[in-house]
Amino acid sequence: MAVRPRPLKSAESKPPARVNVGIIGTGIGGAHFDGYSKLKNVRVVGLVDVDPARGKSVAERWGVPVAHAFTSHQDLLSLKELDAVSVCTPNYLHAQIAIDALNAGKHVICEKPMAATLAQANELFNVAKKSDKVFMMGYNNRYRGDTQLLKKYIEAGELGDLYYGKCGWVRRHGAPGPGSWFSTKSMSGGGPLIDLGVHALDLAWWLMGKPKPVSASASVFNLLMPQEWERLGRPGTMDVEDAAVAHIRFANGAAVLLEVSWLLHTPKESFYCQVMGTKGGASAEPEFRICQDKHGAEVDLTPRAPNIGGHPAEIAHFVQCIRTNTQPLSTAEDGLLVMKMLDAIYRSGESGKAVTIR
Ligand SMILES: NC(=O)c1ccc[n+]([C@@H]2O[C@H](COP(=O)([O-])OP(=O)(O)OC[C@H]3O[C@@H](n4cnc5c(N)ncnc54)[C@H](O)[C@@H]3O)[C@@H](O)[C@H]2O)c1
Repeated sequence: MAVRPRPLKSAESKPPARVNVGIIGTGIGGAHFDGYSKLKNVRVVGLVDVDPARGKSVAERWGVPVAHAFTSHQDLLSLKELDAVSVCTPNYLHAQIAIDALNAGKHVICEKPMAATLAQANELFNVAKKSDKVFMMGYNNRYRGDTQLLKKYIEAGELGDLYYGKCGWVRRHGAPGPGSWFSTKSMSGGGPLIDLGVHALDLAWWLMGKPKPVSASASVFNLLMPQEWERLGRPGTMDVEDAAVAHIRFANGAAVLLEVSWLLHTPKESFYCQVMGTKGGASAEPEFRICQDKHGAEVDLTPRAPNIGGHPAEIAHFVQCIRTNTQPLSTAEDGLLVMKMLDAIYRSGESGKAVTIR
């Protein structure tokens, strides 16, 4: 894995021989459970879901003591044996729960996005920065076998200087139900941009070497979802966008184009991510391909990357960071910078002007 571990600021007491974790939120939390269950000397000792019936049934399925299926994260955090948590709740709860967990002396992996708002992300960043515990963003696409291999090509200089990224996640029909937390801005922070775009943008930005973002110019739409829900006769809050396009500029002169939708009259769903440099380009999605010109001819490589899934690999990395007291590949600062880009895109969509990112 293309990771350069850096020790956390001050070494904590000896890392635990066995890592005891808790999972907060049991939707995508299931993928975290699968990751932990593949690792030696790691035990899921508790979980939290506000829905007690769901918490109990998931605990039974996962083999977690039902007495440790809590409805409040504070009860989980009070378990003495707990070392770490996965924060897998709706977006608006990420920052507060992660802050509570760090303050309780627990390591944290936080699902994407870092928070529902930039203000919440800043609060979490400030706590994570001062903490001796591992804080890791769950940017699972960075940990896949193919993206890790592509990163090696890039770091070896084989694509030259990367100056253009083109990425997006476009769904023709893929909007959540009316009234769900996903479609309620106060809970989600936004629609497909913060839900799907965060994956595509983070992947392109990380592959490009995490250049400093300086501005965003965007158009943000909400034209089809209100029509669709009226047609379906399904009431409920839906105050987020259904599509967005953005142009992000970076201090080194590079740029990223990003496109997202939950609902769009487009031929089909696509998740794509391409990065282009002075010596070659590559696509990480929808297929792994390297494109170069050599001796006056176009050359495409389709390396056979190891078949390693992002979720199990990110969980293994999180546990490794706990054991070795090192900074993860996806840091709190990465979470904050991606939130700054998303926030600037939303503000540009509202104002119709380019927005400076500080
Ligand atoms: N990395 C990925 O590929 C990926 C995929 C899906 C979702 N996510 C992220 O994971 C998070 C959860 O998404 P989801 O799809 O699992 O949502 P979901 O609605 O399916 O599940 C969320 C769960 O959290 C529970 N919950 C709500 N409030 C809670 C609280 N205060 N404490 C504990 N549990 C609480 C809900 O009852 C529900 O069971 C979101 O931030 C989402 O962006 C990431």
